[in-house]
Amino acid sequence: MYVCLCHAVKEAEIKAAAKRGCGDLEALGKTLRVGTRCGICRCEAQSIIDAVHQHRCDNVHVLDFAAKDMATPVPA
Ligand code: FES
Repeated sequence: MYVCLCHAVKEAEIKAAAKRGCGDLEALGKTLRVGTRCGICRCEAQSIIDAVHQHRCDNVHVLDFAAKDMATPVPA
């Protein structure tokens, strides 16, 4: 699905850029030009960035929790 019609940028491209480190609209604009013309796509693009980063944070918590469980000795 296209998010930025002005620059023909799809949701998948924004997700990929966010996963590669684009953490905000400014970085996304420099990378894919999203939001740099009419600006209508900016809100949706930000939501996609937030969702990607939230998902990453959720995974980090799960991994931290799992690492703590593995480090705790099992009582005999
Ligand atoms: S739709 Fe993205 S800048 Fe216009």
